[in-house]
Amino acid sequence: MKYYKLVENAGKPSGFWGRLMIRSMNKGHSELTEWALSKARIQSGCRALDVGCGGGMTVSRLCALTGSGKVYGIDYSDLCVEKSKKQNRKFIMCNKAEIIKASVSKLPFEDGTFDLVTAVETYYFWPDKQNDLKEIYRVLKSGGALLLAFEMVVDETNPDRWRAVEERLNIKAVSASGIGGMLAKAGYINIKTHEYGNERLCVIAEKE
Ligand SMILES: C[S@@+](CC[C@H](N)C(=O)[O-])C[C@H]1O[C@@H](n2cnc3c(N)ncnc32)[C@H](O)[C@@H]1O
Repeated sequence: MKYYKLVENAGKPSGFWGRLMIRSMNKGHSELTEWALSKARIQSGCRALDVGCGGGMTVSRLCALTGSGKVYGIDYSDLCVEKSKKQNRKFIMCNKAEIIKASVSKLPFEDGTFDLVTAVETYYFWPDKQNDLKEIYRVLKSGGALLLAFEMVVDETNPDRWRAVEERLNIKAVSASGIGGMLAKAGYINIKTHEYGNERLCVIAEKE
């Protein structure tokens, strides 16, 4: 019961269970995030955006990896914006990071703003995935990259692995081929997938 109260707060954390969920995500997604970011080429001076930034740990990691660059985090949950700001207060104070309340479907940035956009364990919740991928494409610079990281991964040998969570949250686990197809349809090129057993998936794709 407690598990489901927590999990139900993964898509838009709020209130008591949302606070617990954010704490648990900051810890629980740490290895996935570190592994996924190790697959990306992140240069000093890079301008990065973390979509669905949750408790703000990925923003903190990106701040440490981007040297003189700047890192933005967006989330549509008020609680996540509050917690991300707290987590990154020292970076925000020196204008290294900014956290903004926004939806992935309408990003408050000019075309061609970012070298890198990351999205860790958030894609499942997006309302219009094909258009949301296009919206991210819009804000990427030419040659910029989108990095998607997942733990809810299925393949043909184990398609029902996440069924209980899928039904509870009305979301779908992803497969490497499914994500690759969506990215190609949204216009991305050089789509590369990295798998860690069947437990983690990282997909990196570029804007031409
Ligand atoms: C499972 S949490 C992952 C949080 C964080 N990326 C992490 O790895 O800990 C999913 C996050 O995506 C955010 N989210 C879901 N749908 C969103 C949308 N349409 N626009 C912006 N954020 C969204 C949620 O509020 C939540 O913070």
